[in-house]
Amino acid sequence: MKNGLILYRSKYGATRKYAQWLKEATGFDCMETKKADAKTAQNYDTLILMGGVYAGGVAGLDFLKKNYALIKGKRILLFAVGASPYDEKAFTEGIQRNLKGDLAELPCFYGRGMWDLENMHFGDRTLCKMLLKATAKQDPSTFEPWQAALAGMKPGETADWTDKAYLEPLLAALE
Ligand SMILES: Cc1cc2nc3c(=O)[nH]c(=O)nc-3n(C[C@H](O)[C@H](O)[C@H](O)COP(=O)(O)O)c2cc1C
Repeated sequence: MKNGLILYRSKYGATRKYAQWLKEATGFDCMETKKADAKTAQNYDTLILMGGVYAGGVAGLDFLKKNYALIKGKRILLFAVGASPYDEKAFTEGIQRNLKGDLAELPCFYGRGMWDLENMHFGDRTLCKMLLKATAKQDPSTFEPWQAALAGMKPGETADWTDKAYLEPLLAALE
């Protein structure tokens, strides 16, 4: 395996957990996207961007967009972390919305994260409660996978779906 840098953006800890597991499995360096810059990233052959999914967007992608011209020769992979169970169609559509232009060709992977509505920051909790209210009024046969998963939870119920097994396809790609 060549030398690599794991860059991650996590609000509630699931993506950080995957980043730490990946660091242990690969020996790669690891840092938050907020603390990274293109100059640091240029020292590595492989860059892995790991980001939580919030309202359909993958956090941390701005690092790649902003610095792409300086790092485009690198091997770059993306790992997104969301509450939704993995669903190929929804994942592919989500990735297509997030990755445009040069970034559209990046290999993408997915891991399931965590859910704890009551411990979210105020703005996030308000937004998620609104989405859940709207979901409750919707016909269940039209639910997206994330809606089906969250609509089935009891009020106040929390979940940690993180699992090292989600990293296996990414690790296989790195070999
Ligand atoms: C404001 C907000 C919006 C979210 N939107 C989505 C979403 O669109 N799709 C999804 O699968 N999960 C969504 N989630 C769930 C997060 O992706 C999940 O909690 C994940 O663990 C976040 O990563 P983190 O724990 O590293 O912050 C959302 C969470 C929050 C707080």
